[in-house]
Amino acid sequence: MINYTLKQMYSYEAVIRLKSFTKASQELHITQPAVYMQVKQLQESLGSELISIQGKSIKPTFIGQKFYQTSLDIIEKLEQSKADIEQTLDPEAGHLQIAVATTTNSFVSHILAKFKKKYPRMSFYLDVTNRESLLKKLNNSEVDLIIMGEPPTDMPLITQPFMENPLIAIAHPEHPLLNNQNNTINDLTHETLITREQGSGTRITIERIIGNQLNSDIEINSNEAIIQAVQAGLGIGFVSKHTVKLELENHVIKQLDIDKFPITRHWYVVHHSKNKLSPIAERFKAFIVENS
Ligand code: PGA
Repeated sequence: MINYTLKQMYSYEAVIRLKSFTKASQELHITQPAVYMQVKQLQESLGSELISIQGKSIKPTFIGQKFYQTSLDIIEKLEQSKADIEQTLDPEAGHLQIAVATTTNSFVSHILAKFKKKYPRMSFYLDVTNRESLLKKLNNSEVDLIIMGEPPTDMPLITQPFMENPLIAIAHPEHPLLNNQNNTINDLTHETLITREQGSGTRITIERIIGNQLNSDIEINSNEAIIQAVQAGLGIGFVSKHTVKLELENHVIKQLDIDKFPITRHWYVVHHSKNKLSPIAERFKAFIVENS
């Protein structure tokens, strides 16, 4: 085990670099005898002379030169880590690690753009993935915050709902079921249904509502691709209304009237209760809630 202190190492490094105990003491804001004592104790700990003093000349010994190089490397790493931590904790310039449900992609970019405008010095890493993978990342402390629909209740999470998330059924504008106003889940039995992949929050919700009657031939792991597939007349899809605003406005797809739909859920901003949020993550969480 290393039995010298960082203070001793910093003192030695300063003495060698500045070639003077006096200058080192001024830089370190301690007295000259204190610097001398730090270096003496360091030499005792290492069991070797590190400095050779001849008249006014201060030079490292052979071992001292090696230790000086090691000190420079360690100090550089320590200073870098200190700067990283300070940057992360700076409420205006911190770094944010977030992961969001694939479905939220349509509005999260807008929120992030506004946030970045307000705090131009902040940086972020955005991971867009499905529900299952979001929860894994949160559990492994890979991200500060996640944005998802319906957080699980069997994990120690802090959750804050911030916006409605209506899940709708969509079809090609000429689909025959569009002629009926009172479709039921049973009417879907003979239809080709397009669903998201296993592990997706949308998929879990649809399975819960449609249950055993969910007979999906087509699985697609992207909302955009599901919308394209519905436009191409491949089948009926289920998506969050937020993802199809433009397509509905342009009448390239239509919303189906089906009993139990739209399924109204909420979007949540979520973090793990074991992790304290950094100042920038706190700000981002508050910003989402205020701006949604
Ligand atoms: P998903 O989540 O993108 O994993 O489907 C969305 C949701 O839970 O509504």
